[in-house]
Amino acid sequence: MFCCVALNDECHFLKPYCCLLLLCFYYDYLEKYHPQAQLITSFSHFFSIIYLSSTGAAGKKAYMKTIIEPFKIKSVEPIYFTSQEQRKEILAAAHYNTFRIKAKDVLIDLLTDSGTSAMSSSQWAGIMMGDESYAGSSSFFKFEDSVRSITGMPYIIPTHQGRAAEKIIFTILGGKGKYFISNTFFDTTRANIEFSGAEAIDCLCEAGKHPTIPAPFKGNMDIAALKKAIAATGSENIPMVMITITNNSGGGQPVSMLNIKEVRKVCTENNIPLFIDACRFAENAYFIKLREEGYAAKTIPEIANEIFSYADGCTMSAKKDAFANIGGFLAMRDFELAVRCRNLLIITEGFTTYGGLAGRDLEAIAIGLQEVMDEHYLQYRIRSIEYLTNKLVAAGVPVMQPAGGHAVYLDAKAFLPQIPVEQYPGQSLVCALYEAGGIRGVEIGSLMFGKYADPEEGGDATVKLIPAQMELVRLAIPRRVYTQSHIDYVSEVIIEVFSKRAELGGLVITEETPLLRHFTAKLQPATKNYN
Ligand code: F0G
Repeated sequence: MFCCVALNDECHFLKPYCCLLLLCFYYDYLEKYHPQAQLITSFSHFFSIIYLSSTGAAGKKAYMKTIIEPFKIKSVEPIYFTSQEQRKEILAAAHYNTFRIKAKDVLIDLLTDSGTSAMSSSQWAGIMMGDESYAGSSSFFKFEDSVRSITGMPYIIPTHQGRAAEKIIFTILGGKGKYFISNTFFDTTRANIEFSGAEAIDCLCEAGKHPTIPAPFKGNMDIAALKKAIAATGSENIPMVMITITNNSGGGQPVSMLNIKEVRKVCTENNIPLFIDACRFAENAYFIKLREEGYAAKTIPEIANEIFSYADGCTMSAKKDAFANIGGFLAMRDFELAVRCRNLLIITEGFTTYGGLAGRDLEAIAIGLQEVMDEHYLQYRIRSIEYLTNKLVAAGVPVMQPAGGHAVYLDAKAFLPQIPVEQYPGQSLVCALYEAGGIRGVEIGSLMFGKYADPEEGGDATVKLIPAQMELVRLAIPRRVYTQSHIDYVSEVIIEVFSKRAELGGLVITEETPLLRHFTAKLQPATKNYN
């Protein structure tokens, strides 16, 4: 099986024969040593090894053996150590919800890659240049130029973060009887749609729903499902289709340019505007460069320009691919819509040349948006996520494959098969990682997305929980923050928890809110298994 690691680009004509040969060896090996193994699972494991080693998931380029961070560290921040005993108490006091834990009690914080980036010296210098004028700030015009150079959109509206942009656009376009369709809506996006009275529909491609099936663009929209949803709800009731790049709730998986073009075509045929949730546009553009035919020689700005050329507008959280600690924007081509958005912006966020931001934040975003398109940075970024993923795959830990753009996603259902979805295996794993090593991740499963059946809408009252499609634990890697030894430590902790997985039990909710319950819910260990 290890031979396939040696299959490089010069001998790819040999790959089919080698793969076949290896498949035979593998089959033999299974029959001999694991006659009880499930063939489907085993073959998917086999193919994922072939896939990862032959395409390298990080692409066709030869990488240096040692991954180096493409920056030097100028300023450091201490992290604080706690003992396992202390963490046990902290967890109980936080009602088994890691959102309730104080940051100083976390050793490696992988809760989110949002607003947690290390800014560059240029960004900090930009902060000192911030023009804090209420109207017509020169920092706004730098921000506007930077966003326009990437999106090509004429109307740029700053907001204090991504969800503020969502709140504005969905308040204007949403409402009862309206439907919005996406590959997968992020939780705040879905919540903003539902809060307006409208419905959010996800149409993710089949490969994206299976954590261990490797495919290059698992964030793609299912075009047939999109057409079906339009036919079922009526195009006149759909104010927008939205593509999330990369698909955060589905493993940080990228969307191909071909898929974006196909969605554009369907939208044009049905007269529906297409928006992009662009939080991680540069990471998605880099995957296109690595994995999609015809893009290897293109620059990241060229690829990003092409992505946005198919869209009528976008929402963006600058807390991700702009390395900013706060910020976001709305951008669009439609003047009338921009006027309506700006009117609402003034009531909720602030004047049109600052949104909810200080001039210094606009400077940091303007600079960060350009820095993120540097290929040395993107190579390091994508490779470091892949590095952790591959270490876990090698230890047999079930993870989403191939590696996504900003995070490693553990497949909690496969990790903890003894815990039923009604007892939140993802949340149990989140707690175990914190207790074992002070690592904070986040559940992206039935605690975040699960729903209760509503008997008034024809739901079955005996069904306690409609679970999410997948039970994942996301370990999001903040940009330019942790070094390779931090990541090695993380893999060590996960592998240690994996070796003791049989000892873990489930959790039950004791208190929750109707929307976005995962942020504040209280839980406690389940006394017995649900079944
Ligand atoms: N869209 C996507 C795809 C996101 O990942 C997020 C935030 C938002 C919209 C909202 O942006 O936080 O600036 O209001 N994701 C963060 C995360 C919170 O942890 O993934 P925001």
